[in-house]
Amino acid sequence: MSKDQNIIYFVTGNMHKYNEVSNLFKQEKVNYTLNQIDTKAIEIQANSIKEVALFKLNSVKEKIESSFFVEDAGFFVDSPLKGFPGVYSSYVLKTIGNEGILKLINDYDKSRAHFSAITCLYYKPLDKIFLFEGDIKGKVSKSIKGKGGFGFDPIFIPDKNKKTFAELTTEEKNKISHRGQAVKKMINFLKDNI
Ligand code: IMP
Repeated sequence: MSKDQNIIYFVTGNMHKYNEVSNLFKQEKVNYTLNQIDTKAIEIQANSIKEVALFKLNSVKEKIESSFFVEDAGFFVDSPLKGFPGVYSSYVLKTIGNEGILKLINDYDKSRAHFSAITCLYYKPLDKIFLFEGDIKGKVSKSIKGKGGFGFDPIFIPDKNKKTFAELTTEEKNKISHRGQAVKKMINFLKDNI
């Protein structure tokens, strides 16, 4: 395999996501050079993050010569918000933000929430698309805590933890997070298929 064939692109405009994924590539010693590409992928409003991720991937497929992946994630407050904001996560973060979510919860200890991520890989050598998923369950924090991470990280406490995602280091978050799980599955696939 030539050197060029070992380049893989992560199509994202989100530097936080890129840093998390790049950290995992380094740690897992995967034999690929990871590059970020911020080609404008089309983000649709759909009923599942899987549909969003697949549409995103297909919207840039013709523009990229190597293997590449996109990802879509969502924050779901299962109780008491029945999964909201879910596929509306971006919009809700931009409008009511973390403060707005906190105001909708009355009993934080009884709250349940999860993050889901789908990593969608276009694997050039096989000319095929592969999906990798990750989920992490937890609850909503009583207040906004921590300076790390991004998005909803300051209000999410993963199960078996006392800290929010925003209080963890990137390595600690990656070990358990939705994105960490999905990307590790993709890395294992890449290692098996190189
Ligand atoms: P996206 O569509 O995958 O970019 O994510 C939808 C929304 O969820 C965005 O507002 C992100 O900031 C937020 N989000 C995605 N992943 C994470 C995460 O790992 N932690 C916190 N918020 C996230």
